Amino acid sequence: MFRSLRLSLRFLLPLALAMLVMAYVTVPIIDSLTLRWFMRDLDIRASTIGRALEEPLLDAVETQAWRRVDPQLERVANDERLLALGVCNVAGDLVRKTRLMPTGLDCRSADRLDESGSMVRLPRGPVHITAIPLRRGDVHGATLLLVHDLSFVERRSQDTRRYVIILFTVLGMLLALISLLVAHMSWRGWVAGVRAMLQGEGVIRPFSQPRPELQPLVGDLRSLLRDIERERRSTDPGMAINWNPEMLRRLLHEQLRGDEILLVSNREPYIHVKSERGIEVQRPASGLVTAVEPVMRACSGTWIAHGSGSADREVVDSRGCLRVPPGEQSYTLRRIWLTEPEERGYYYGFANEGLWPLCHIAHVRPVFRDEDWRQYRRVNERFADAVAQEAKTDDPVVLIQDYHFALLPRMVRERLPRATIITFWHIPWPNPESFGICPWRSEILEGLLGSTILGFHTRYHGRNFLEAVDRFLEARIEHESSTVSFGGRLTRVEAFPISIAWPDGQKGKSIEVCRTEMRTRLGVRPGHLVGLGVDRLDYTKGIVERLLAVERLFELHPEWIGRFTFVQIAAPSRSSLDEYQRFEAQVRATAAQINARFGKDGYEPIRMLIEHHGSTSVTEHYRAADVCVVTSLHDGMNLVAKEYVAARDDERGVLVLSQFAGAARELHEALIVNPYHIEEVAEAMHRALSMPAEEQRERMVSLRQLVREFNVYRWAGRMLMEAARLRQRERISARIGETRGVT
Ligand code: G6P
Repeated sequence: MFRSLRLSLRFLLPLALAMLVMAYVTVPIIDSLTLRWFMRDLDIRASTIGRALEEPLLDAVETQAWRRVDPQLERVANDERLLALGVCNVAGDLVRKTRLMPTGLDCRSADRLDESGSMVRLPRGPVHITAIPLRRGDVHGATLLLVHDLSFVERRSQDTRRYVIILFTVLGMLLALISLLVAHMSWRGWVAGVRAMLQGEGVIRPFSQPRPELQPLVGDLRSLLRDIERERRSTDPGMAINWNPEMLRRLLHEQLRGDEILLVSNREPYIHVKSERGIEVQRPASGLVTAVEPVMRACSGTWIAHGSGSADREVVDSRGCLRVPPGEQSYTLRRIWLTEPEERGYYYGFANEGLWPLCHIAHVRPVFRDEDWRQYRRVNERFADAVAQEAKTDDPVVLIQDYHFALLPRMVRERLPRATIITFWHIPWPNPESFGICPWRSEILEGLLGSTILGFHTRYHGRNFLEAVDRFLEARIEHESSTVSFGGRLTRVEAFPISIAWPDGQKGKSIEVCRTEMRTRLGVRPGHLVGLGVDRLDYTKGIVERLLAVERLFELHPEWIGRFTFVQIAAPSRSSLDEYQRFEAQVRATAAQINARFGKDGYEPIRMLIEHHGSTSVTEHYRAADVCVVTSLHDGMNLVAKEYVAARDDERGVLVLSQFAGAARELHEALIVNPYHIEEVAEAMHRALSMPAEEQRERMVSLRQLVREFNVYRWAGRMLMEAARLRQRERISARIGETRGVT
């Protein structure tokens, strides 16, 4: 408010001053103009009077008989502006004058004047004198002097000056106010637009072009963003590297000196299940697993996770270990067995009914139970024991994943004080008010502050975490270095946006084959357009909103009915929880209702595929779909968006992406939407379906470049480089400490 007042004054004052100066410059010009007009008026008046009095005055001068002429002269002089009259004979003597003739004025003053008269300044004020020669035929007989009072001209000029100054000042203020208002409005628009662009929301707006006033700047702003990124890279060594598995391995050997890696997550990367065909291996639908697995392949080490598959126990050794991936065997998977009460309390209860809804703004109330908390703590302890058992050295690098293990960093620290603990929180972190709902908020914060590095997808979530620490703990926060000092230890809190492993050339089916096969499965013509959603069946993913948007699309643009099908892959998830069962029923009902309304003769506008899909099948769907729609109501990152981009080596297809997914901060060329605004999503789908091939290509090329470069090896590499730096520092300070102890 004060800033805008200051800004207004800074703008208003100079303008008002400029107007004042203009008024002062203008007034003398107006003055001299009006004076000239008055003089001319007076001259015309004087010569009229002269002509009227010419005859009687010449007679009187000749005969010296003034008796009849004097009263006449006084009568004429009895005028508001005419001060006096005088008559001079040919010898130049003032032979007659009216009563108010100013002293000091005589015929010699008249001689000095020409016929047009002039202004003379007398002690009583300025007067204008006109000398009118009186002639009989060609003979000059006398001169009539007319003295006009000019003080009224001065009075009028002063009035004019005052009015002009007031007029200009008011005009100036008005102009300033109007310009200020216009400037303020367009400045706000600009700032909002530019800010949105910088945040990746506004360059390409949901279903419209960039704001018209920003249109000419889009190119420049994009290259500005690139420059900023380049600048950032030059200051962060991890940014400048072209990250790939080989690079990551080199980093481990050279900078971490081959230090061992232990990774902990709840979800395991490979699940062994019993089926009619014997034991099968499944890959879970988990963004975390998708991202982290390629990193583990590159780094080797041991992955500790909950063994949840029905055949998991049958394929492990006595310690619960096996080498994975099947056939490749590049790292060890250590499975932890949980009892039914442990799984219920820790996984379903505290993690998924408590922390999950607490951290996602999806309008589902978190539930906190004492028993769940007890189990959560207990299971975290059990995993901490497993880490300590698996560690071959006393300073391993431990990578702890997600909200299932908020207490683990501290517990590992207690068992392995020299370990480098990198914790990554894969979901959003709420603001302090929301986080404060959790009855065990301090314990959770303290647990996480056992980490050396604590990572979030976005800076915003990192800031929320720091604010929560500030609110609920006695800790020292250094915003400059983004560190928290608590209990004598330092934790670095940083944003590391997660990603996927960029595929090295597509090994699977061609785009054409994928397209044809999908359309055959759907029973539609080759030119039929297809939209795709790929999610776990979770209430945070905005699946119902997405289906409603398809319905709205048909209402707003009926030309798509019969020409467009939306395929929704939904992997069943956490299905023993009531909330998830209710959600599944709602999704099914919505799809059925839309199909009943718009489907006919075998045409089903929405195709729900509620079952587990392997990664090959998902990739084929990506390659076959014209549009991929991600409408999460809240999401840490969302890797479906990045996977779709990676699958489109034909540089075609359009991504519609929720502004509430972390991915929207990076994927600026997607059509960014607010999933709560159904019409907006519907219009974005329409725009995507009608988008010319050239525009699709332009966007896709740019998206692909970004995902290729900012891949998951970069994510892991940057965290590990930071870990290496901190380890180095700790080793040096430990040595200094030892030396000090000796001396
Ligand atoms: C999210 C979480 C992961 C989790 C995944 C699947 O992506 O961040 O930690 O693995 O959902 O959920 P689930 O409960 O099946 O492991």
